[in-house]
Amino acid sequence: MDKVIIFDTTLRDGEQAAGTSLNLQEKLEIAGQLDKLGVDVIEAGFPASSAGDFEAVRLVAHELKRPTICALSLANIEGIDRAWEAVKEAGHPRIHVFLSASDIHLAHQLKKSRDEVLKMSRETVARARSYLDDIEFSPMDASRADPAYLYQILEVVIEAGATTVNVPDTVGYATPQEFGSLIRGILDNVPNIGKAVVSVHCHDDLGLAVANSLEAIKAGARQVECTINGIGERAGNASMEEIVMALRTRRDFFKLSTNIDTTQIYRTSRLVSELTGFPVQPNKAVVGANAFRHQSGIHQDGVLKKSMTYEIMDPRSVGIPSSSLVLSKVSGRHAFKERLSELGYTLNEEDFDRAFQDFKRLADKKRDITDRDIESMIAEELRTVTEVYHLDHVEVSCGNHNIPTATVRLIGPEGQVLADAALGAGPVDAVYKAINRIVGIPNRLTEFTVKSITEGIDAIGEVLIRIESEDVTYTGRGAATDIIVASAKAYMNALNRLLAVREGK
Ligand code: KIV
Ligand code: ZN
Repeated sequence: MDKVIIFDTTLRDGEQAAGTSLNLQEKLEIAGQLDKLGVDVIEAGFPASSAGDFEAVRLVAHELKRPTICALSLANIEGIDRAWEAVKEAGHPRIHVFLSASDIHLAHQLKKSRDEVLKMSRETVARARSYLDDIEFSPMDASRADPAYLYQILEVVIEAGATTVNVPDTVGYATPQEFGSLIRGILDNVPNIGKAVVSVHCHDDLGLAVANSLEAIKAGARQVECTINGIGERAGNASMEEIVMALRTRRDFFKLSTNIDTTQIYRTSRLVSELTGFPVQPNKAVVGANAFRHQSGIHQDGVLKKSMTYEIMDPRSVGIPSSSLVLSKVSGRHAFKERLSELGYTLNEEDFDRAFQDFKRLADKKRDITDRDIESMIAEELRTVTEVYHLDHVEVSCGNHNIPTATVRLIGPEGQVLADAALGAGPVDAVYKAINRIVGIPNRLTEFTVKSITEGIDAIGEVLIRIESEDVTYTGRGAATDIIVASAKAYMNALNRLLAVREGK
């Protein structure tokens, strides 16, 4: 096989990242974008873990018919039945069964013998196979398991019907050379390995997830599990954009390809960052803000003469717009539409009209409108939370001799106008207290970040917050040229998410 299957687990392992809380709409939006990106498999969730995960998998399976939609399950019969219920409407459903394989997990977590684990693996894979033909099995913590035992488990699950066997470096412990040897060992020692695709799933605890994945591919693995922007449990998973671009840029070395439309990478990265609330570090390979910026004079000189002198990838190949054209208030609908399409947005007529009005409003306050301004504005426009309360008006008075005071007016669920005022330690605190007096839902603010989207005094300020209520974290984002307004929007965004979850939307 000269293709590597790209298995995206942003919606499952990625969503396990501490502080993430995606609602159903957001999961569906990410799944739709992953479809556009061309991933082969979307792991949409872990149905037995919560009602929300079940519903997310069911919805993604219902909506997307091209990619394989995968549901994760622990190796127990109820979990597998639940996974099947969730995924059965997919065009191409898959169930992914996992069970620990290392002695350390068997002794301290499962408290089961190797024989018991073998039996559970065999029985649960057979159960899954009674529902469908596409079954993946993962021996968790494989990189710390006894290789001889690992070979035995893989042989048993393939015999029971597994069609993909995934080798997880669950705790990000392996080094590239070791991990490559492990894959070669599996290919050489599991007698029926030819009946299954060998997959890898690497975590980034030592910053080696991508290196380990690539080494495994070199050794013969033909499916790689990864996430957009590398988000995931603890230090995260192998980053999809880095693996895909490494395979593409160094095709001379790997001699392999993928089905990914790389021009959708940047857009997907922005969407995932926007919806999860995890910013992408500026120096992040492929999608970071500095990934294609040249600072040193020598480098700039080289790039101007021939880009390949210091650029191994064309930014356009990952979907970073080529033009640095700046829009302003004199720009018309046509120029705005062109720009949106270059940035990867296709809006329906109604959304476009609204976006264009927002653009004009912004252009009245800000002279030059850059790509980042547009992205932030569209994200704001498309923010998919059902609004229970709408922020109608916010006003603050503050200063070095004033006690910060905020007046807030919200439109309530039945259209009622609700106004209140509060004092605070600072203007944002006063706004949040005034909103709390109206909405009345106890919560704790655990994170507040404000950053400017572009340079300049008239830049848009983007506020990201996280609030905690009954042990669940909700993310909120807001953007405006006034950071107090952006803060109020972010808080309302988080509160509306919380309310939507409580009301089961
Ligand atoms: O890291 C891991 O081992 C996993 C498995 C469920 C594949 O996420
Ligand atoms: Zn994992």
